[in-house]
Amino acid sequence: MSLSLSIGDGWSFCRLRKTPTANLYVPGAKIGIHKNVNHLEEDTTTIINDKPITVPTSSDLPPLVRALKASAERNAVAFHFPGHKRGEAAPSSMTQLIGKKPFLHDFTDLSELDSFYCSNGPLLEATKLAAELFGAKETWFLVGGTSCGVQAAIMATCSPGDTIILPRNAHISATTGVIFSGAVPKYINPEHNTDWDIASGVTPAQVSSAIKESEMEGRKVAAVFVTSPTYNGICSNVSEISKICHSQGIPLIVDEAHGAHFKFHPEMPKTALDQGADISIQSTHKVLCSFSQSSMLHISGKR
Ligand SMILES: Cc1ncc(COP(=O)(O)O)c(C=O)c1O
Repeated sequence: MSLSLSIGDGWSFCRLRKTPTANLYVPGAKIGIHKNVNHLEEDTTTIINDKPITVPTSSDLPPLVRALKASAERNAVAFHFPGHKRGEAAPSSMTQLIGKKPFLHDFTDLSELDSFYCSNGPLLEATKLAAELFGAKETWFLVGGTSCGVQAAIMATCSPGDTIILPRNAHISATTGVIFSGAVPKYINPEHNTDWDIASGVTPAQVSSAIKESEMEGRKVAAVFVTSPTYNGICSNVSEISKICHSQGIPLIVDEAHGAHFKFHPEMPKTALDQGADISIQSTHKVLCSFSQSSMLHISGKR
């Protein structure tokens, strides 16, 4: 709880870079309810453990949050979806539970919020900040979870008939990515960890022999796909695996769904990008603090 809260606050990019306040959040602390969340400038203090802290003003807010706030404050009539019309038509069963505010800030891609297809406003600004923070050349925000990022990464690297090397226990989204792309899978069976009775990661030696075997079979390897960490938290040696892949000119995709927090503590393993991966996909909603289904796809600037 304390980890997700502290990373959660720090994750708002502007604040993380300017004033990390993670240690203000103490498990079990009494958190004061903001009187008027819609007007942060007018009411800028919150009590945590009886110590007042300053809540960011509009200009301090991260780009997308700032744009959402401004759009919600316009008090415009909604001739656009979603059909709850800025909360006015939201089901009372839900508003009784969570209030109207979540609906008030639930928009489609209005022009003031930028475009998913050709961003040049707050979305572009936010993805640039995310890329900078996560050490990527470019970052995309995903609303279909890491699942859609895994599919996109496989489809971007593999053409029909190409071979992709991946672990036999890869997430089902990798299987659907293989099907959508028309690639042919070459599976690596991860070793079994008998101490924990769970699957391990894949080793550099396994990747190396899978590449060699594919070559001997006359198959063109278009990508290597690795899950690190696994659902159980096992990390592979991505650094060595990326060296092997790159020595053969093969891109490395890492399903880092469970490792979005690695960048934020020195005792965590290095991120896949920091270990040389070309593409990593992270479930921001799993181990960081975003809404369900939100993930990020990062590409490296090195290749
Ligand atoms: C290893 C792994 N990869 C990918 C996914 C898919 O993630 P998402 O729920 O963000 O689509 C999961 C989901 O649990 C997972 O465990």
